[in-house]
Amino acid sequence: MIIVKTNDQVELMRKSALLVSQTLATIAADLRPGVTTLSIDKKIGEYIHDHKAIPSFLNYHGYPFNSCISVNDVVVHGFPNTRELRENDIVTIDIGVILDGWHGDHAYTFAIGEPAREVLSLIRITKESLYKGIEKAVAGNRTGDIGFAIQEHTERKHGYGVVRELVGHGLGRSLHEDPQVPNYGKRGSGAKLREGIVIAIEPMINMGKKDVYTEADGWTVRTLDGKPSVHFEHDVCVRKGKADILSNYAPIEAAEEKNPYLYFANTAVTADTQQ
Ligand code: MF3
Ligand code: CO
Repeated sequence: MIIVKTNDQVELMRKSALLVSQTLATIAADLRPGVTTLSIDKKIGEYIHDHKAIPSFLNYHGYPFNSCISVNDVVVHGFPNTRELRENDIVTIDIGVILDGWHGDHAYTFAIGEPAREVLSLIRITKESLYKGIEKAVAGNRTGDIGFAIQEHTERKHGYGVVRELVGHGLGRSLHEDPQVPNYGKRGSGAKLREGIVIAIEPMINMGKKDVYTEADGWTVRTLDGKPSVHFEHDVCVRKGKADILSNYAPIEAAEEKNPYLYFANTAVTADTQQ
């Protein structure tokens, strides 16, 4: 069942999404070689609680941390741990909150130092593909239009692997609502997008092949070929003509640009598509 949100509810969801954006921006200022992902996770939990919200991933189907922190070949659902971040790591930080009963859920991939050119391209193209998907999140389209646009830009144009096992999703009073929003598909297929539905669009794109496996911990998803993977996620309200992006990369990118330990090259993507 796909739940349409009222305008008031969408505004509450914007607050939830923006709290995640602010959390990501705060964390972005701290990223550097030598920092453990466990210390990042702890700060994430504190920041969310300080803002009258709850980290929604903690205890979700038994998930044991505040956030998912996925380094290099980890695609998603990485456990924060005591390994220190290193020069040339790429790290995806995925955060969920519940604020006044409404979920926010979004993610960003950072580059520590200056990884190889191919890795930076993977980051840029994946981020671009998120916005190409968002362009299709308009009333009357279908989920397959979003998936097709993402797959077109990443797999067909650049030869990357689009993860099939994990998909975007509806978002609201629950973290995962209908519809599923795959990052692949056929134009004109899938659930119809109605004005006022809120979805999380989240391309998970591998530099090599699309195949992944889950570790024995039951959560950590890695690429089978060991090559890096990138994940970006925005919360989006479907509208007529143009989607409304509830989350916001601007504060995260500002923090990224200021932090000398992070590679920053993405201004154009946001500038064109988000005010
Ligand atoms: N952002 C992810 C998602 O959309 C992470 C949720 S998994 C969790 O599904 F268990 F950590 F919550
Ligand atoms: Co999500």
